[in-house]
Amino acid sequence: MQQPGLRIVKDGVHQKSKQSLAVNFPAQLSQFPELRYMGSKKRLLPWIHDVFSNLDFETALDPFSGSGSVAYLLKSMGKRTISSDFLNLSSTLAKALIENGTAHLDGPAMKRLLAEPANTHHFIEETFDGVFFTKEDLRFLDRISCNLRQLDSVHQQALAMAALMRSCVKRQPRGVFTISGDLSKYDDGRRDLRLSIEEHFFEQVEVYNEAVFANGRRNKACRSDAFEVDTRGVDLVYLDPPYVPRADDNCYIKRYHFLEGLSCYWQGLDIDFTTKVRKIPKRFTPFSYRKQAVEAFERLFLRFQKQKIVLSYSSNGFPDLDQLTEILHQTKSDVRVFKRDHTYHFGTHRNVKRSAVEEYLIVGQ
Ligand SMILES: C[S@@+](CC[C@H](N)C(=O)[O-])C[C@H]1O[C@@H](n2cnc3c(N)ncnc32)[C@H](O)[C@@H]1O
Repeated sequence: MQQPGLRIVKDGVHQKSKQSLAVNFPAQLSQFPELRYMGSKKRLLPWIHDVFSNLDFETALDPFSGSGSVAYLLKSMGKRTISSDFLNLSSTLAKALIENGTAHLDGPAMKRLLAEPANTHHFIEETFDGVFFTKEDLRFLDRISCNLRQLDSVHQQALAMAALMRSCVKRQPRGVFTISGDLSKYDDGRRDLRLSIEEHFFEQVEVYNEAVFANGRRNKACRSDAFEVDTRGVDLVYLDPPYVPRADDNCYIKRYHFLEGLSCYWQGLDIDFTTKVRKIPKRFTPFSYRKQAVEAFERLFLRFQKQKIVLSYSSNGFPDLDQLTEILHQTKSDVRVFKRDHTYHFGTHRNVKRSAVEEYLIVGQ
């Protein structure tokens, strides 16, 4: 039975077609550099935009920002945007494109980045030789990582790191760091796999430079656990936590440990040298565990009881939709659910698998 105060809308706010959803969609979004990030909402942005457009808010917080696609949408909509994630790789991406509105990698910055440094460190080459990429690629990563600290601003540094990380994702089969060694079986002739990291980097610097824009607001990127992030001044929060996995796990560190390490040159990280891919420790999140997810949502909704909440969820998540809306009702009197069919693609280029789910946007206010 439907709970009192709960409204369910199929497909969109006003049952809009995909074409009409695109009409008011900010053109800036076409510049967003996608990272093939697990759980990215990039493909759902026109629909999410439609739901946001019908809500009244000025300052938005995205505390599970991941690739930053939704924060980029919010910024494109002219909102003051605060982006946060507990991974350093995500907060670096957000520093580059959410917080930063003016810094670019110009000629002088590129000259500094590409210079042959007097004392190059060889940490990446020594640690990942035979694991990921070629020796030249690894040397290039060491060089840029060292030179990056010479750049004038933290935003230029974040831009350079974002371009470097996307270069690595493009060069690595399937964009994940769970596979290593001889990867020839994944080579389907794609240009991305043939280009060196250096060649990719030149392209990605352009891509990131073009993606930088200002929206006249003081936007912010930080690294924080969602339960600790500052909520002052925030009137809407967009929540996109990981789902309890059905079969495979949903660990971001397992897939992206190399990027997380690269983003801080592995400083302070404990590499497990007994693993083939040189893993770093997982980050605990209660949203990954069946026994803890319900309590985690209760705590999360309580934490944002003063803000409007927009939650991304999916029919393959646990707890299910009914239980989740019931929890949200404890702190919000008006709960609306927007539903939409969605197909996820995964696997290799040659062997693409699809999984059909229903996507939800749950709005509580
Ligand atoms: C589904 S992804 C978000 C995807 C994002 N909306 C996008 O479009 O790319 C979930 C994110 O939550 C982050 N995360 C998980 N638990 C967290 C926690 N307790 N605090 C902060 N971030 C967390 C993960 O690092 C991951 O980046």
